[in-house]
Amino acid sequence: MRVKEETIDQIRQSLDIVEVVGDYVQLKKQGRNYFACCPFHSEQTPSFSVSPDKQIFHCFGCGMGGNVFTFIMELEGMSFIETVQFLAEKAHIDLGETISNQAGQTKRNKSDRESLYFAFDLISQFYHYLIQNEKFGNLGLTYLLNRGFTKEIIQKFNIGYAVDSWDTLTQFLQKRKIDLALMEKVGVLSKRQFDHKYFDRFRHRIMFPITNHRGKVVSFAGRVLTDEKPKYINTPESDIFHKGNLLFGFHLARQDIKRTNQVILFEGYLDVIKAHQCGVTNCVASMGTSLTETQASLLTRHAETIIICYDSDDAGIEASFRAAAILGKEQHIIKIAKVPNGLDPDDYMTKFGGEKFLSDVIGASQTVMSFKMNYLRRGRDLNDEGDRMRYVEEVIKEIATLTKAVERDHYLRLLSEEFSISLDALKHQQYQIYRQRQRKNQNQNHQKRPPVVFKKLTTLYPAHEMAERRLLAHMMRNDEISEKVQEVIGGSFHIPLHQAIAAHLYAYYLGGNPPDLGAFIHYLKDTELQQKASDIAMMDVNEEVSDQEIDDYMNQIQNYNKIAEVERLASERKKAEQDNDFERATKLLAEMITIKNQLNRR
Ligand code: GTP
Ligand code: MN
Repeated sequence: MRVKEETIDQIRQSLDIVEVVGDYVQLKKQGRNYFACCPFHSEQTPSFSVSPDKQIFHCFGCGMGGNVFTFIMELEGMSFIETVQFLAEKAHIDLGETISNQAGQTKRNKSDRESLYFAFDLISQFYHYLIQNEKFGNLGLTYLLNRGFTKEIIQKFNIGYAVDSWDTLTQFLQKRKIDLALMEKVGVLSKRQFDHKYFDRFRHRIMFPITNHRGKVVSFAGRVLTDEKPKYINTPESDIFHKGNLLFGFHLARQDIKRTNQVILFEGYLDVIKAHQCGVTNCVASMGTSLTETQASLLTRHAETIIICYDSDDAGIEASFRAAAILGKEQHIIKIAKVPNGLDPDDYMTKFGGEKFLSDVIGASQTVMSFKMNYLRRGRDLNDEGDRMRYVEEVIKEIATLTKAVERDHYLRLLSEEFSISLDALKHQQYQIYRQRQRKNQNQNHQKRPPVVFKKLTTLYPAHEMAERRLLAHMMRNDEISEKVQEVIGGSFHIPLHQAIAAHLYAYYLGGNPPDLGAFIHYLKDTELQQKASDIAMMDVNEEVSDQEIDDYMNQIQNYNKIAEVERLASERKKAEQDNDFERATKLLAEMITIKNQLNRR
């Protein structure tokens, strides 16, 4: 599919990068630009900046940068076309015609990713067809109905069944002319060692399609119908499936998460599915692995309150604390909900329904600290002085990890009241633990980690590189300067990326395009170039630049060329002398002098 350049321009011009980026990170205005902690790498001090004037973003920490298209492509992991569709919708620009006109072409040159989407979608429909088919799918359907799932919810989540056979899917895929080798690579088929024949990897399993955040199937999880192990087998990571970036059920929950400004985080697929069936639709699951930073930031970007509702066994509670620690870095409200009687959320909702779940489980959720305090009480006899003191001490240790003073104060007061210990004593002890930890951290930091530096302030470029950066920055803002540079030094930039940017810039202006940083960055296409260009474009340069300044930069660049040439001649001359070729040595010296005389001549 191709979208016209005009349409892309139109989209770019009708969106404000500050608003688009603002949907994902909290931007703070500072001077002319906006700043935030970078969503592309983890950091404590903000080095990610967005320029409303230039309509570009750049991170001085990790180097990521570009325009609004680059931002969405990188952050959402979308292809360019997907990004265009996504942003066109935001900008209320209709792509309808462009897309349908090109539909024929789409089929022919489908990229790898697109053929994977196509195959996974087909397979999910096939498994789903099987579970509804009385002859093939009865076992699967009965299992789910027995666990209290309805036919409607099976439909909504497109749940399927893989029959107990070695080649049902294989034959289906073969008939549909799907590349079987590719299907083996992405883990829906396996290959027999002795005759290299493909066979179905999932047999006699309930099949859960896992979709990305736009609802496209990108993976499968197959659950056994018994207590056998492993309970689940999954398809592995692929071009279209990165486990740590996804949350199960996100696309179905997105709207309700925004509406309620709250999200429930479960552990299991079945918890999410049962919750939907019971009318609780602002929920997702982390798919069995610990929550990643990416998943955490997805949640914190969309809701202010995050309620962790994992299984109530010890493993579940420990996992809740880990998830809370990852989520708790920002100014969000993180709570933990405990399902009573050792039930998991799915069982609880089957027994008591969604309303009671919301009121008694979610409604009774506690802040992480309160939950921890209760957890630490387990197995202790608080009437016993020794137990009591050990409990108080452990709680203080936890309180010392809180970053907000009001919170620390709140919990210390609770302790003080409950155990009649003076608040001052508790505060003092808390502070000591805090200091101790801080010192330990400092020592570790000194030993291990290189100091965190704010790259923008500390990157020192060699003079010729800086001259090239400044020159390019002016060229991007002003086509006349670019023309002049083209005439005088043309392609002789020393840094290969600079050279490439200059070449593109000449072509860009030659094509009749006006100076426009966002447009130029889009024109570059290549991400490495885009990042470099946005880095340069973000530099603060004097907008009212004099001809003299431009000449100085060009001189520096050219002199650097000449100095390099002089050095080369010098070493050749030395070699000539060693070879007793004095005639050549004299010639080389003369050349050196000529070049030296040309230095700094403009
Ligand atoms: P039920 O036990 O049938 O209620 O399923 P569940 O989906 O609720 O699973 P459970 O609570 O045991 O585990 C939570 C999540 O961990 C599951 O949804 C899976 O994502 C993951 N998980 C559990 N067991 C396995 C396994 O054997 N293999 C893999 N890959 N993931 C698993
Ligand atoms: Mn479960």
